Amino acid sequence: MSGERTRPLTRGVAALASVVGVRGVVLAGGSGTRLLPLTRITNKHLLPIYDRPMSQWAIEAVVKAGITEVMLVTGGAHAGEFLRLLGNGRDVGLDLLTYGYQEREAGVADALALAEPFANGEPVLVMLADNIIERSIAPTVRAFAADPVGARILLSPVEELDHLRNLGVAELDEDQRVIRVVEKPEDPPSRYAVTGVYCYDASVFSVIQTLSPSARGELEIADVNNHYARLGQLRYDVLEGFWGDAGESIDVYYAVNDFVRAHGANKG
Ligand code: G1P
Repeated sequence: MSGERTRPLTRGVAALASVVGVRGVVLAGGSGTRLLPLTRITNKHLLPIYDRPMSQWAIEAVVKAGITEVMLVTGGAHAGEFLRLLGNGRDVGLDLLTYGYQEREAGVADALALAEPFANGEPVLVMLADNIIERSIAPTVRAFAADPVGARILLSPVEELDHLRNLGVAELDEDQRVIRVVEKPEDPPSRYAVTGVYCYDASVFSVIQTLSPSARGELEIADVNNHYARLGQLRYDVLEGFWGDAGESIDVYYAVNDFVRAHGANKG
């Protein structure tokens, strides 16, 4: 039987748009304590968002950005379910899907460190699998691929202070450059939330090796971004349209579900 004939259509579409040299890392670990007791029986990123498991939206966002090689990093007791959901990745438009297993809950940056051999010196697009985005992230990936130095992140304007206090928030100078990211700030320095979409050059893996655990005992992705901010190498785009971190709280989880059911995600 010809392998070509059995390829799903999405695979061909992704391959046509392939962003050469950028590899995708989808992070789907963590204990999901903010969604307990739902997460007692499954991984947060397998909970439904409208008509599919949460992490499938992140994979689709990465594929639609033209990336066809992805490593999914997860952990905990339900890790095997990702293999049942995504298999070898062909049905979701990937040429290569590989898996990493995080043995301890030591933070987003610790999970990303597992992708170093997979990245193999190439730049990476990192996406947290609980992030749901209305529009395409392709413009950001393309801009980074054209000049893959340091880091490029996506910010989303968020008005509610209570909401910002649960997120990373960018502090900007008068020239609108990000001077630092403040994680879960009591007093948010701007209305720009840091989404869970990050582009890094291959130096990110040596940056992670220099980090120390935060007060919550984790290697923080905010500390990675602050490293690049100090170097003047943290660029950003501001996302238009809806963005939600479906793992932020049970209320946000339902708000994201309502949005996706009414409007979809990863459009255009
Ligand atoms: C993480 C990041 C935070 C970011 C958020 C977006 O937070 O640390 O900066 O705003 O993802 O989803 P977490 O969801 O791990 O608390």
